[in-house]
Amino acid sequence: MGLFTTYPISLLCVEDEPALQELLRRHLANAVDTFYLAGDGQEGYDLFNEHHPDVVITDLMMPNIGGLAMSRMIRVAAPKTPIILITSCNRADFLEEAIDIGVTQFLLKPVLKEKLLTSLERCHHIIELERRSNRTIKLESLEIMAGGFAHSFNNILTAILGNVQLALMHLPQDSIPHHSIKQAETSANRAAEIVKQMLDYTAKGWFQGRKIDLNVLVKQVSQSLLEMLPPEISLSLDAEASLPPIKGELSQLRQVISSLAANSMDAIGNQRGNITISTGTMVCDRSYIENCWNSDDILPGSYVFLEVSDTGCGMEKETLEKLFDPFFSTKFTGRGMGLAAVLGIIRWHKGAINITSKPRFGSEFRIILPTDVT
Ligand SMILES: Nc1ncnc2c1ncn2[C@@H]1O[C@H](COP(=O)(O)OP(=O)(O)O)[C@@H](O)[C@H]1O
Ligand SMILES: [Mg+2]
Repeated sequence: MGLFTTYPISLLCVEDEPALQELLRRHLANAVDTFYLAGDGQEGYDLFNEHHPDVVITDLMMPNIGGLAMSRMIRVAAPKTPIILITSCNRADFLEEAIDIGVTQFLLKPVLKEKLLTSLERCHHIIELERRSNRTIKLESLEIMAGGFAHSFNNILTAILGNVQLALMHLPQDSIPHHSIKQAETSANRAAEIVKQMLDYTAKGWFQGRKIDLNVLVKQVSQSLLEMLPPEISLSLDAEASLPPIKGELSQLRQVISSLAANSMDAIGNQRGNITISTGTMVCDRSYIENCWNSDDILPGSYVFLEVSDTGCGMEKETLEKLFDPFFSTKFTGRGMGLAAVLGIIRWHKGAINITSKPRFGSEFRIILPTDVT
């Protein structure tokens, strides 16, 4: 474990002794995203309720409310939050009570930096597993709902559009009813587009994969993007020469690049900015894959990647958690299917997606895809 290891978690430390407080701050404040410090159990409990930190490290003996009583109170609201108890007491009856409350780990005094960081790493691992399992459950249930909805609507829309086209054939082109029905056709086509994105999201649409050179595709899409971009936004291409082919569906991958680039354009807005589309090969280890979306069936190994990055507004943590949800959008109602469909398409291609983003600094969407071995 390196000196600058950072865990993307928030941590609450509860400790009354100034010297130990200082030690915890020195060793842990830079190892986590957000660090809270409370001077006793009551303050710890209040901070917990206010900020819902991912992990709690607490001393045992403290004025007002002690570490065990506070842990018991926290457990009522948060049955799964890892709690690490710092203590010099290893009596069996005490340990039994602590385990009964749901204390996850113990650290015996004197508290060493190595031990603290190892405990934190374990907690981070538990939290990541929990986050991933929640994501999978959410994805599965949303997929069932979106699938059912999209299939029913698909049938209804086919009937509407069929009848609209029949009606149009029998109406004079310049008549008022012809105009109205034309409008209805446009709206029904727009609805069909959303339904198609929902079907993409369920990753079950049947399309035939074939050998694709991503670089050729990226060049084509960039050409049409260049025509759409306002002068303030520049587009760079960074394609690795002689990329191995992948197996996929051109129109779907084109949609992926266009959706990501459209989001980058929105994120840059009226400012000056740059969008970069890159391709390359990379070796992904387990920890890289664990940080991806759709990582469940993805094995470590060599992958082709396609990345769209921008210097736009970036994203807050809350947005990052929800951005693939169908109809999640920070823009306006009726939006939010772009990335949901992207995720479905990536799933169909047996790939995964890794996102790095920081508010005000921009975002990187990197898709890894298996190479075509046939
Ligand atoms: N490159 C990006 N930079 C900043 N935010 C982004 C980016 N891409 C996606 N987002 C966020 O994710 C949300 C969902 O994206 P998407 O599914 O494409 O829907 P839409 O673009 O219609 O809002 C966006 O509303 C935006 O908040
Ligand atoms: Mg979008």
